[in-house]
Amino acid sequence: MRQTLLLPLLVQLISSVGQLVSATAASGNINGGQLRRIWLQDHCSAGICTDVEIGRNDYVILSHAPIAKQLMLTFLNSSIAKIPHLMFDTFPDLQVLRMENCSLETFEKPQFEGASNLMGLFLGHNRLKDIPKNIFLGADNLATLQLQHNQLKVLHNHSFHALKELKELTLADNQLEQLPLGLFAGLRKLIELSLSGNRLQTLPRGIFDKNLNLTRLNLSRNRFTVFESELLKLQMRLAILDISGNILHELTLNFSKLDLAVAHGCDLRRLTVYGVVNELDLHNNSLTELPHIPQAGNVSGLDLSQNPLGNLQGNPLRRFTALVRLNLSATNTHELPEGLFKKQTQLQILDISSNAIYSLKITLFDNLKSLQYFYFQQNNWNCDFLQLLMSSFVKRRDISFMEDVTAPELVDDYVDGVACWYESDRASKKCDGSSGSSDAAMELSIVRNEIKSFTELIEKKFVKVYRMLDEMKLKL
Ligand SMILES: *[C@@H]1O[C@H](CO)[C@@H](O)[C@H](O)[C@H]1NC(C)=O
Ligand SMILES: *[C@@H]1O[C@H](CO)[C@@H](O)[C@H](O)[C@H]1NC(C)=O
Ligand SMILES: *[C@@H]1O[C@H](CO)[C@@H](O)[C@H](O)[C@H]1NC(C)=O
Ligand SMILES: *[C@@H]1O[C@H](CO)[C@@H](O)[C@H](O)[C@H]1NC(C)=O
Ligand SMILES: *[C@@H]1O[C@H](CO)[C@@H](O)[C@H](O)[C@H]1NC(C)=O
Ligand SMILES: *[C@@H]1O[C@H](CO)[C@@H](O)[C@H](O)[C@H]1NC(C)=O
Ligand SMILES: *[C@@H]1O[C@H](CO)[C@@H](O)[C@H](O)[C@H]1NC(C)=O
Ligand SMILES: *[C@@H]1O[C@H](CO)[C@@H](O)[C@H](O)[C@H]1NC(C)=O
Ligand SMILES: *[C@@H]1O[C@H](CO)[C@@H](O)[C@H](O)[C@H]1NC(C)=O
Repeated sequence: MRQTLLLPLLVQLISSVGQLVSATAASGNINGGQLRRIWLQDHCSAGICTDVEIGRNDYVILSHAPIAKQLMLTFLNSSIAKIPHLMFDTFPDLQVLRMENCSLETFEKPQFEGASNLMGLFLGHNRLKDIPKNIFLGADNLATLQLQHNQLKVLHNHSFHALKELKELTLADNQLEQLPLGLFAGLRKLIELSLSGNRLQTLPRGIFDKNLNLTRLNLSRNRFTVFESELLKLQMRLAILDISGNILHELTLNFSKLDLAVAHGCDLRRLTVYGVVNELDLHNNSLTELPHIPQAGNVSGLDLSQNPLGNLQGNPLRRFTALVRLNLSATNTHELPEGLFKKQTQLQILDISSNAIYSLKITLFDNLKSLQYFYFQQNNWNCDFLQLLMSSFVKRRDISFMEDVTAPELVDDYVDGVACWYESDRASKKCDGSSGSSDAAMELSIVRNEIKSFTELIEKKFVKVYRMLDEMKLKL
């Protein structure tokens, strides 16, 4: 963004304000409000203004003549109850106005007359409760409007009227409970919309029917209990959808092509995805099986971390042939079936950390020809197996990995910084016949894992616990 030094322009401002003195002295009040002059030279430099205070009833005079070529103004550490009435008369060339976190409370009518050069209006983190009908008349080239973190509860059909050039609108973190059907109808060029962090339970059918270019939609952290892809059936360009943080249990997505679908923290138990989706972020749900995706061969990124998937029996990844990133961290896995990654020849990043894996068949990795990052820390590795994994796969192929943070008191040994435990010979000798050493080791693993999470919670040194663990080992 080009920026003009405000200072030279202020010379003009100061002299014009000087001429006003007698007039202002004569008429101290307008409409019961205070007539005030704001000496911007005291506050602004290079388009940055600080410590400006404007009360709700102030009628502010900035200049009696327009100040040209000021393209951008940013207000910091200021308390401005309303945008000065004459803002765009004074700065007719203004393209970007940032008045974030300025205690802005209200709009004045008409507010944006003459604001036809304004392209970016940033009003986040204020105290706005309402967007009055037709308030944006005059801002007919506005492309970006940010209103996040205000106190908006209701919006009207014509709140955004006249914003026919608007491409990006954020209403995140307000208190919206419902939206009127016609709210976005005038925003034909809208590309990106965020409604994240509101209290929406449903959206009226047809609310996006005029926003045919909508590409990114963020509905996260609302109160939706169902999501219908039907709502967006006309949006051929929709590429990014975020519905995280809504409790949905079951979800079906049906879009022709999404680049990214984000649905973490939704307590999902079942997910079906029709159409093509490249990247799926499903972490922190309640999935016990992989999502059902007929076109699984088009998925390149899949985050299933923090789901109770268990041991992934039955070759569930066989149709995910184009995976590049796969996250299976914290999925309650004790072991991985031998052929699990048979089709993942393109996989570059694999995360199986924070599970209870003790040992694997080394052939599991045979087809992972493209792997570059392999995260497997925070498991219950057997030290002998871990040595083998390092030497025959990880280090041999120069794959990056991550070290462990497990407290040393709980660990038998580390292999290249990753914690591991030795199988107790005594244990296997003591256990007779069928139950065998691996069952005993498994039990020990589970105990270790519980202790590990415990450690994370209270961050203490566990000398005592270590002793107990030793005793348990002896018992096994
Ligand atoms: C804003 O105020 C804070 C504390 O009141 C101060 O640390 C900061 O430097 C101020 N920022 C500007 C740009 O004046
Ligand atoms: C808003 O400004 C106040 C001081 O004016 C500051 O203390 C606070 O951290 C700011 N908040 C944000 C979100 O910027
Ligand atoms: C809002 O606009 C829609 C059409 O876009 C119309 O059906 C509805 O009645 C309007 N609501 C109000 C309150 O004006
Ligand atoms: C939608 O996007 C396309 C491609 O960017 C553009 O040609 C078209 O004019 C846009 N339509 C509207 C209504 O903005
Ligand atoms: C949706 O909005 C939230 C902020 O409320 C943000 O953290 C998240 O990254 C956004 N989602 C996408 C896909 O950009
Ligand atoms: C998915 O949506 C398309 C077009 O909206 C529709 O024709 C198709 O029946 C839907 N598929 C499923 C399985 O619901
Ligand atoms: C995980 O999802 C649940 C909803 O199922 C949510 O309550 C919780 O805050 C999420 N946890 C994190 C760390 O995001
Ligand atoms: C989906 O995958 C198939 C097979 O790899 C490929 O031919 C097709 O172009 C992909 N579709 C999209 C939209 O990426
Ligand atoms: C996998 O998911 C976990 C938990 O959600 C996260 O901490 C980790 O960074 C992810 N791994 C990768 C490689 O992105």
